[in-house]
Amino acid sequence: MIIRICVAALLAAFAATASAQQPAPFANADPHKGEKLVTKDCQSCHASKFGGNPDAIYTRKDRRVKSASQLLSQVTMCNTQLNSGFFPDEEKDVAAYLNQHYYHFKP
Ligand code: HEC
Repeated sequence: MIIRICVAALLAAFAATASAQQPAPFANADPHKGEKLVTKDCQSCHASKFGGNPDAIYTRKDRRVKSASQLLSQVTMCNTQLNSGFFPDEEKDVAAYLNQHYYHFKP
């Protein structure tokens, strides 16, 4: 537990400089950490729905997410429904990663 807190503090310090461009709902999150979580828990199902391309769900024309706060809610909803067990900070990391790579919502 103590190790987890230390790592979180370190990551927060790092993320504060690394992702200053992220919108308010996940301003201090760490997209690099989010990337690992998405790869582990989210990609394969999205890929199976879109002919093997895991990116298509975020880049399709009629995508559902239209704002930074919707992005975070969608990640939270998937996490809850799927029981992925992400902590709230990890949900923000995931949102920050998806924003950096696909959605590009401005701060
Ligand atoms: C069991 C399959 C499955 C898994 C696992 C899954 N998703 Fe999804 N996800 C979907 C489907 C299906 C949609 C499209 C829903 C729609 O269009 O109504 C979706 C849509 C989304 C969207 C919205 C895309 C848009 O249209 O803008 C986001 C963001 C998202 N998922 C994030 C995640 C995250 C983060 C995880 C991992 C915690 C995850 N999903 C895991 C099936 C899955």
